[in-house]
Amino acid sequence: MDLIKAEDISYSFKEYDEEGNVTGARTAVDHLSITVPAGTFLAVLGRNGSGKSTFAKHLNALLIPQEGTVYVDGIDTSKAKDMLLIRRNVGMVFQNPDNQIVSTVIEEDVAFGPENLGVPHGELEDRVYSSLEKVGMSEYASNSPTKLSGGQKQRIAIAGVLAMKPKAVVFDEATAMLDPKGRREVMAALKKLHEEGITIIHITHHMEEASEAERVIIINDGKVVMDGTPQEVFGNHAEAEKYGLRAPNAVLLRDMLKDGGMRLGEHIALDEKELAMQIASHLRGGEDD
Ligand SMILES: Nc1ncnc2c1ncn2[C@@H]1O[C@H](COP(=O)(O)OP(=O)(O)O)[C@@H](O)[C@H]1O
Ligand SMILES: [Mg+2]
Repeated sequence: MDLIKAEDISYSFKEYDEEGNVTGARTAVDHLSITVPAGTFLAVLGRNGSGKSTFAKHLNALLIPQEGTVYVDGIDTSKAKDMLLIRRNVGMVFQNPDNQIVSTVIEEDVAFGPENLGVPHGELEDRVYSSLEKVGMSEYASNSPTKLSGGQKQRIAIAGVLAMKPKAVVFDEATAMLDPKGRREVMAALKKLHEEGITIIHITHHMEEASEAERVIIINDGKVVMDGTPQEVFGNHAEAEKYGLRAPNAVLLRDMLKDGGMRLGEHIALDEKELAMQIASHLRGGEDD
């Protein structure tokens, strides 16, 4: 079952001059089509301004396509009466941890979304605590969010989304403002959601994060220009570089070793550790992979 299906969607922003007159239009999403089966962990890459956030906002009806159709769990997002259902099914976590917290107590913050959906009180409490537990933040439930690290704030934002019981969560550069520790914490939470069957759409600039996805797409000028497993996309790094991406170091190093005459087999190692094992096995004179 395809949880998300975008059929030939386009979206342009109007451009204005200083007096507020419309001077033109900037196409942000340009006849983009994609289907995402339920349960997929999809990474979305592409240079700044390529249309990733505009595409992402179509997945929970923050934007409605000007051309084409987006279906979420079979529902056309342009049908206004189903907007709440779509918003509940697809949660969003954004870049800035400080812009997503609305309450002065963490548990109230996590309760905010489901409370607005009218979830009854007893169930609300269960949802809040199980969501906090999933992101490893239970012990902070009654604290104020002000003293939290960026990674902890993002985990609170994720708990708030989880409390809505979503089918998919879109992370729009949710790790971009975090230090390495915060990024690891958020990636751990994200992977846990994926293991529970939630569809993950992770927009990121970090290749090592994208390497952990099942499927990677590259968006360029509002279109999907590459689509495959991380091995397929990064293995073809000459092409990926055209869209402003740099393959993981292990992929580049593997190519240098091959150019230097080392026979390394077909498997493309995405991280240094995996590549080191491949080289070690080669040096032992064993099998190439
Ligand atoms: N609110 C907006 N008003 C006008 N133009 C916008 C707006 N948001 C995005 N754009 C333009 O749309 C294009 C795609 O932007 P965006 O989807 O934010 O890209 P990305 O997330 O990949 O960096 C860019 O050219 C950007 O300048
Ligand atoms: Mg963006």
